[in-house]
Amino acid sequence: MRLVFLGPPGAGKGTQATRLANELGIPHISTGEILRAAIARSTPTGIEAKAYVDGGELVPFAIVLRLVEDRLQEDDARDGWLLDGFPRNLEQAHALEPLIEKLGQNLDHVVFFEVADDEVVRRLSGRRVCKTCSETFHLEFSPPPDPQDCAPRQCEIFQRSDDSEDSIRNRLEVYSRETDPLVGHYQESGLLVTVSGSGPIDEVESALREALGHRR
Ligand code: AP5
Repeated sequence: MRLVFLGPPGAGKGTQATRLANELGIPHISTGEILRAAIARSTPTGIEAKAYVDGGELVPFAIVLRLVEDRLQEDDARDGWLLDGFPRNLEQAHALEPLIEKLGQNLDHVVFFEVADDEVVRRLSGRRVCKTCSETFHLEFSPPPDPQDCAPRQCEIFQRSDDSEDSIRNRLEVYSRETDPLVGHYQESGLLVTVSGSGPIDEVESALREALGHRR
């Protein structure tokens, strides 16, 4: 299966993508994760992308397209993938189409997670991530484990640099200006599946399975 996850920042795309990709045995390809890893390693791409990511702006098209192009050609992505965070505007959506066509593939569904702005702000401001295993937590909804319990795994819990109040506000503006138009675009092409992302994590997971016809 080949899927795109779409939705505002903090809608729960990453949380649901990790679960579904594991279950389907396909790679979860998050452009945000790839960029954060490049920033952490201070690669040339990471150095160029850092200011955009920290400020909640879109990283230039050419950089992101190259990352996706390379990643989709890796062996583990031959039989399916879940793209999380790409495409993020119409320019990227138009670039994805010939790219997957060239690979002899097709997109099955675009899942749109619908969540209100105030809930998104609550989720992003409480989000914490583990530096070691990249697992995502929330101070209220899925609290990180006690540091003593994670000692063997050497977990290091931190707050993402773009989860500051200013950056969250900007990301929401960028989302509504750049990414929201993709909902109409994919609705017109018949690929859009809308899932309410506002309930608890397990409830959203069930709604997602139901929408994709993957019931346990
Ligand atoms: P990216 O990493 O893609 O960030 P995002 O789209 O803003 O999405 P998030 O990761 O913030 O949220 P999410 O929907 O995955 O939510 P999560 O599951 O973590 O991109 C970061 C940056 O990289 C961009 O701003 C841009 O600069 C750059 N970039 C990336 N892709 C790009 C592209 N294509 N082009 C250009 N630039 C690009 O959940 C959030 C929190 O809520 C967590 O704490 C979680 O535990 C909690 N939670 C999740 N679900 C629920 C629930 N149902 N109930 C309660 N809590 C929940």
